Amino acid sequence: MNISRNEQRALHVLALGGCIQHERNDGPKITSVTCVTCEGMILADFDLAIFNRLRRRRLIESRSGRPYRISNAASPPFARNSTTGERDMLIRNETASDIRAISHLVTEALRMLAQSTGTEAGIVERLRAEGALALSLVAEDEGRVVGYLAASPAWIGDQKGWGLIGPLAVLPSRHRQGIGTALMAEALRRLRTTCKGAALVGDPAYYVRFGFQAFPGVSVAGCPPEVVQALPFDGIEPHGELIHHPAFGLDQRV
Ligand SMILES: CC(C)(COP(=O)(O)OP(=O)(O)OC[C@H]1O[C@@H](n2cnc3c(N)ncnc32)[C@H](O)[C@@H]1OP(=O)(O)O)[C@@H](O)C(=O)NCCC(=O)NCCS
Repeated sequence: MNISRNEQRALHVLALGGCIQHERNDGPKITSVTCVTCEGMILADFDLAIFNRLRRRRLIESRSGRPYRISNAASPPFARNSTTGERDMLIRNETASDIRAISHLVTEALRMLAQSTGTEAGIVERLRAEGALALSLVAEDEGRVVGYLAASPAWIGDQKGWGLIGPLAVLPSRHRQGIGTALMAEALRRLRTTCKGAALVGDPAYYVRFGFQAFPGVSVAGCPPEVVQALPFDGIEPHGELIHHPAFGLDQRV
């Protein structure tokens, strides 16, 4: 399926929890549309023509006259292809045959980070061995694993039910093609149905676009406060230490 850049941008907003508000004049015909992000910002350059193309292909739907949301037909999500700019990259659950490629990719991608410990692939393996991979998503392009996202159960303070995202890694040769965004959009879409919120430790300059923010009371010992971020799905401000699964090897206790 061919999807233009503007359609892709709108689908990303919707995949992250945004919606399309619509108005009719007197008749049944929709006469104006506004695409709104989950933070209430308005997506520029979204118009009736884009809306109608998404609707015709059933990538968006409205129930009982409510705002339009992303439809199941739009899932699984796809990232942009590097050469054509079109949507043709699959985001799916890992299978046993991906495991070696995931370890390789995580090691290669995280090697670029100054704070990398070189143990990240081992953390994923331990989470998997202990049945603690709440999500293990791969981005596949032409049969090759080019991106990876893990999520595991976590606590914030005395609250269980958080989904801790990490590691998130994209093959260095495939950066800036929307793969990280597509993985994150799918992870948040799934975690919304099972978790109180998502949390992670990472560069706020990247994660702010998904709605993550640092909260004054949320911390991980030894980490600068601004890198410890959460996205509460109910909007209630969390408090306390972000407690990772023991596979991360941090000295934390519930
Ligand atoms: C961070 C990472 C997952 C992003 O994946 P990606 O597929 O390149 O990201 P996307 O294409 O969805 O988004 C690219 C955008 O994010 C920006 N970006 C990427 N990393 C960023 C960072 N650390 N800080 C700020 N912006 C960042 C890019 O500049 C680009 O911006 P633009 O669209 O305005 O040009 C990837 O760069 C990576 O694997 N990095 C090494 C491992 C890592 O840092 N993992 C996260 C911590 S566990």
